[in-house]
Amino acid sequence: MTSRCEITGLSESNSKMFEYLHAYLVGKLEINNPDSATLAGFSKPLLNTVSSNSTHKGEIKRREGLFNHLEKSIASKFKNSKLSVFGSAESGLSIKGGDYDLCLQIPDADQKKVVKKIGSMLRGQGMEEVQVLTRAKVPIVKFTDPRSGVPVDISINNSLAIHNTNLLKTYSKLDERVMQLTLCIKHWAHHRNISDAPNGTLSSYAWSILVISHLQKKQVIPNLQHGDSRTLLEIEGKEYDLTINESEVLESKSDATIEELALSFFTDLATYKWSDSVISIRNGGDISRDQKGWMYEDPTALDVVNSEKDEPPRMGEHHLAIEDPFDLDHDLSRVVRAVGELKIRDELLRAAVMFGKGSTWKEICQTVDPDRMKNLQPEDLFHDLRNKSDNDVKNMLTKVKGEMEALTIRVDALESERKSAIRMAKAMRGVIEETADLRKEHKAVITGLKQRNNQINSVKEARDKINQDVILPIHMIEDELSKVYTRLTEEVDIHRVPSLEREKIQFSWFLELQAMHGKAREASELHQRFIELVGQQKEEIKKLKLYETQHDEATSLVIENEPLLKDKDINKNEARSYDRRVQNLQKALRQRRSDLHKLRRESGRLEAWLRKKSNGNSDRRGNRKKSGRGKTSKQDNSGPITLGDISGLLSGISSEPTPKKSRKVSSKKAGMRKLGNLGAHRGSRSQYKKKE
Ligand code: CTP
Ligand code: MG
Repeated sequence: MTSRCEITGLSESNSKMFEYLHAYLVGKLEINNPDSATLAGFSKPLLNTVSSNSTHKGEIKRREGLFNHLEKSIASKFKNSKLSVFGSAESGLSIKGGDYDLCLQIPDADQKKVVKKIGSMLRGQGMEEVQVLTRAKVPIVKFTDPRSGVPVDISINNSLAIHNTNLLKTYSKLDERVMQLTLCIKHWAHHRNISDAPNGTLSSYAWSILVISHLQKKQVIPNLQHGDSRTLLEIEGKEYDLTINESEVLESKSDATIEELALSFFTDLATYKWSDSVISIRNGGDISRDQKGWMYEDPTALDVVNSEKDEPPRMGEHHLAIEDPFDLDHDLSRVVRAVGELKIRDELLRAAVMFGKGSTWKEICQTVDPDRMKNLQPEDLFHDLRNKSDNDVKNMLTKVKGEMEALTIRVDALESERKSAIRMAKAMRGVIEETADLRKEHKAVITGLKQRNNQINSVKEARDKINQDVILPIHMIEDELSKVYTRLTEEVDIHRVPSLEREKIQFSWFLELQAMHGKAREASELHQRFIELVGQQKEEIKKLKLYETQHDEATSLVIENEPLLKDKDINKNEARSYDRRVQNLQKALRQRRSDLHKLRRESGRLEAWLRKKSNGNSDRRGNRKKSGRGKTSKQDNSGPITLGDISGLLSGISSEPTPKKSRKVSSKKAGMRKLGNLGAHRGSRSQYKKKE
């Protein structure tokens, strides 16, 4: 068994992993205050973090372009819908490479269906990494726009988020230290990997709320949710107090500097008694757990991490309790998992200690997981090419182009296979529709035949049963009846000796004949009915043959126009199996097209690098390009180029021999429309077409 700390219960490796927290819990952590010169030294790097993270005009423009495109394509699919920006892009608290949060407001919609539909629309438009999250509290579609590299979240009917964004925006307008400290803390939390709600730490939004709370406590900002006049609004059946009292613009009571505020943020939160209170910016200060009714539930994060069970217990709630400013039942720490909680507390202590020790801000924010930062810090797109010779890059380009060519052939083959499958399904449907009336009557006749057959059988059975009992045919019965009757009623023959016995026999024979006659009449009527039914049956069978001939004629007429259908079994099941095939081909095509898209970008990137290098060489030789010949002449050849900037470089490089897909779209779309639900179509993206 591994040795464990007697106080925290942490194993040796976990004590190392949560080094600062462990030392703090066993009472061995020293948090010192930096001297004033050391503290002042933090000012510049903190403000540098602010300026390097603030969104530049180019990025704002790219986001606007993307917004306009999405607004147009979504409006064409969902009537009465409204797309709005929220989150940091709207509040002005965005760090570089942060996501772009959009909200689609669409009344009375099936939210899951809406996100699924948007997801397939975006895939069709060539958006990358499209994920549809239907199980989230609010359904979301996540994707990355390949042109701008911007990661986007579209959530549905997320009205409260629009209001809380507005609250953050109003706070950030009050005092520039709100924006400054928020960007610094978000930057630190992102780099230290503790701002990732899906992975069990706090959301970026929760960190912003912690900053607002800290600035309220330090009297840098007032509480904007105070005041007598209240704004109440009902959202999805629940009433919310959405008061933002903008008139509460007080002179700040504090002149604390950004470095002082950053230091106090870390030290105050690092040593905060989480088990005593709940953080509440709505209240303008912490509230007691009793008042809020959120208890510090067991098991604790340490209990969970120290558990030796294969399936550790589920952690109790409300440990890092942070009340949402509008949704008062929502604890923003609900997403935090046990390891996440320990990591957050460990990181706060680490930052507080390092501030006091005089470490640099860069060291405090040292990236934990560089992979995760890729999206946050748009990379220099040529970083991997810088150490390569031109020949190596040219070889890479040749390889990429070869792959592109092979993939283009495969895409074309799949495309024509898909088209013929669509044609088949369509043609089959045509035959089925064309002969639908005939088939209906045909069916009715067949059902009639079956029913009549049953009738014929039962009539025949009844007739034969009677005939078994009645030995004489009806005309003989009638003759015999008349003879007996005459014998019984003729005048008495005086020459014959009267016999009572003979008379008795005659009478009983008469009565028997009479009964037999009734039955024989019934049998004869049944026989008539039998003949009638058999006649009708023959007529209907003739009709059936006629329908079959007509069906064959209609089918062969359609087949004349669609030779693909020859020798094919034409029925609904077969048509459906072609639909399925179309869908599968569509899926495969989507994947291949996305691969092709990536190869095209790579080829463009390699060509852009080679062009850049050759421009650089010619510049060095004194052949400077004329001004206005393009952005490349302006750019510093060694400087980093972002994903967005590459669009400019790529425009004008059209070495790509494949036909432009956007043009094909309209005819394809028209075809698909006629076909109904045979498969997803790719949308066009008008504003980018111009660029291509
Ligand atoms: N939001 C919310 N409740 C949460 C998390 C988020 O209402 N538990 C809403 C808030 O309106 C927030 C927006 O979603 O402003 C975006 O959240 P997030 O991306 O976490 O915050 P940003 O401020 O946009 O941070 P970043 O710049 O890192 O994207
Ligand atoms: Mg965001």
